[in-house]
Amino acid sequence: MNILITGATSGIGQQLAIDYLNEGHIVYCCGRNLAALATLSNRFPVLAQNLSFDIQDLEDCRRALGELPELDLVILNAGTCEYIDASQFDAASFERVVRINLIGMANCLECLISKIAAGGSLSLMGSSSSYVPLPRAEAYGASKAATEYLAKTLSISLKKQSIKVSYIAPGFVETPLTDLNDFPMPMRVGVEFASDRIRKGIARGKSEIHFPKLFTGLLKTLGLLPFALQKRLLAKTLTN
Ligand SMILES: NC(=O)c1ccc[n+]([C@@H]2O[C@H](COP(=O)([O-])OP(=O)(O)OC[C@H]3O[C@@H](n4cnc5c(N)ncnc54)[C@H](OP(=O)(O)O)[C@@H]3O)[C@@H](O)[C@H]2O)c1
Repeated sequence: MNILITGATSGIGQQLAIDYLNEGHIVYCCGRNLAALATLSNRFPVLAQNLSFDIQDLEDCRRALGELPELDLVILNAGTCEYIDASQFDAASFERVVRINLIGMANCLECLISKIAAGGSLSLMGSSSSYVPLPRAEAYGASKAATEYLAKTLSISLKKQSIKVSYIAPGFVETPLTDLNDFPMPMRVGVEFASDRIRKGIARGKSEIHFPKLFTGLLKTLGLLPFALQKRLLAKTLTN
């Protein structure tokens, strides 16, 4: 397969790239970190193709992605996280998160949808934070809730082009991003586990891939409760 992965220079995206490369696929590895991209292409000459660009910059995306051949699988994984103190709401922080997680994704979609083969797949990286409103995740969670909506609408709109769209919603995964977190991260899994679940979910044509199931199942169940009850439960457990 011809596969493109954004955010292939670190964490979940890097592990996905390594695993698909080990399976013998051609992987277009995207990111800004040139040293990390070079490590992949040195380890997998020919199979790993490096594309360096900033997903926030539409012109940069067009330059890097314009000449690609047909793709069988696109995983838009690149993202970031900043937490917000609601009592001192920081609009600049909110904008940084939304620009990367949401606008960056839209920039990639503009450049890539027309390159996905009929019968191919498109996966958008969200987060299980989209299932319930989590304090301090006002920016991150909003960007991921929008990504969930985007994935679901695209899965309907692109059906006539026979493109399968999936929404990926991990719980906590051990990466440089979560290494920065200053709070307990229940049921945090490794990148190998995350990559395995994502690759299996995509191969099975799932429209939603969430893991670890115990954690994400709990959040999804909470999300089904009346909001007043969700609010009481979440405020009690997360703001004490
Ligand atoms: N780790 C978790 O617990 C967890 C849970 C749920 C969802 N997620 C989501 O999974 C995705 C990957 O997260 P991770 O934990 O693996 O984080 P990570 O290790 O920090 O990796 C983030 C990746 O995104 C790329 N990226 C960030 N900003 C970019 C930009 N402006 N242009 C191009 N690439 C950019 C980075 O590449 P460069 O620095 O090379 O540009 C890097 O490869 C994110 O969307 C995150 O929200 C993570």
